[in-house]
Amino acid sequence: MADAGGTAAGGEGAGGTAAGGEGIGPEVAEAWAGREASGGGDRPATGSNSAWFARAARTIPGGVDSPVRSFASVGGTPFTVAHGEGPWIFDVEGNRYLDLVQSYGAVLLGHGHPVVVEAVCRAATLGSSFGMPTPGEVLLAEAICTRVPGCEQVRFVSSGTEAAMSALRLARGVTGRSRVVTFAGCYHGHSDGLLAAGGSGVATLGLPGSAGVPAAAVADTLVVPYNVVPELDETVACVIVEPVAANMNLVPPQEGFLEGLRRACDESGALLVFDEVITGFRVGPATASVLTGVVPDLWCFGKVIGGGLPVGAFGGRRELMAALAPSGPVYQAGTLSGNPIATAAGLAVLGEVSVADYEALASRVARFAAALSGAVRAGGLAAAAPVAGTLAGLYVGPPPGAELEVPSDYEGVRGIVSSGSYPPFFHALLRRGVMIAPGPYEVLFCGLSHRDAELDLAVEAAGEAAAEVTKAAGSR
Ligand SMILES: Cc1ncc(COP(=O)(O)O)c(C=O)c1O
Repeated sequence: MADAGGTAAGGEGAGGTAAGGEGIGPEVAEAWAGREASGGGDRPATGSNSAWFARAARTIPGGVDSPVRSFASVGGTPFTVAHGEGPWIFDVEGNRYLDLVQSYGAVLLGHGHPVVVEAVCRAATLGSSFGMPTPGEVLLAEAICTRVPGCEQVRFVSSGTEAAMSALRLARGVTGRSRVVTFAGCYHGHSDGLLAAGGSGVATLGLPGSAGVPAAAVADTLVVPYNVVPELDETVACVIVEPVAANMNLVPPQEGFLEGLRRACDESGALLVFDEVITGFRVGPATASVLTGVVPDLWCFGKVIGGGLPVGAFGGRRELMAALAPSGPVYQAGTLSGNPIATAAGLAVLGEVSVADYEALASRVARFAAALSGAVRAGGLAAAAPVAGTLAGLYVGPPPGAELEVPSDYEGVRGIVSSGSYPPFFHALLRRGVMIAPGPYEVLFCGLSHRDAELDLAVEAAGEAAAEVTKAAGSR
């Protein structure tokens, strides 16, 4: 096991701590220092990153509970988070990072937001789980259904994986068909039938799928390229798609793609499933279906609707959802489904964020993405930073600092990733106290707590990081 030597960004031989990295400009350093004084950097450090990770690896496989966290594709050893505040996270050594991951999109208001904390505490005092209906799940279901036209009912589960898996079972149960069409580079969780050619961690770790998935489990999964409308026949139960692909970096849908899927499904009798686990209540005030005007038959939700706690949901038209047990023949269940603490957190988030907040965030993200890709290019690396609503992607390629074309599918994304520019850029950025995902297939998650001031720091750090990587490439 690699030893981080007590620094946050271990494997690259990082010598400095995150917030005080070498090469950081005086203005940035001053701003960091100022934030540190007021931003909670006074919380006690609680050990060393390397010690915690070594200890984790003794009882948790690979030291992590989800593979992307392991830094496997960027090298080095992950730091261990002690706490978060707004846009910042702090490791156990007290180093502070500007967090552009935000729990892979689950956190929208920022870490430890008082409204969420209060809702969670209040719910916890009333009891954490009953195995009986509670008001919170009803209120959250209503909040979702009123915001998403066409989605008349939702069933809560405990993760996005469960949501997608259950939506598929429902689609098969309703249509009586077995085949499922998915798109290369989209990720729908880790259920057997959906792991073929998935994005996110499956892509990051270079896995074709997973050992342990029998051929029979994926025999009915057809993987086709994103942004191309496939031909469907009467064996297809459903087409499941991320309406804005956010697990192969950011790949927006090209004009006519989602409309084409809708048409193809209608013509063949297949159901269209939008996996909005990332995009739901994150890309904008509601969903990508609302943004694009393309209405699927079923939706999958997760992340934001749980306010950072474990929640997923799938939903759709009433007559489709009626096929679920107990009213229908499609079985689906969960001990902790609709958990009152998690639904309280989700309700708190949806209640706190206004349409104006989403609009303001979308413009902040658009400005940030343009500045970020400009800074990386000025630092000498090729870059592109596409935007969809409040989501941004960041593609980093080798010198010179040209503008990259935003890929339209997984093959294109892989072409950029194969340049190998992301890992050193990631580490150079981390040494400057900015945390982006430790894998090139994720997107940047900004939330309501990221103000222009913080994002400006990230832009400046990105320019310096790119310059460091460019210099190193030139001296090789
Ligand atoms: C689009 C999409 N669907 C499904 C999932 C699976 O969700 P979970 O990790 O909560 O199981 C994810 C996770 O990132 C996702 O991005």
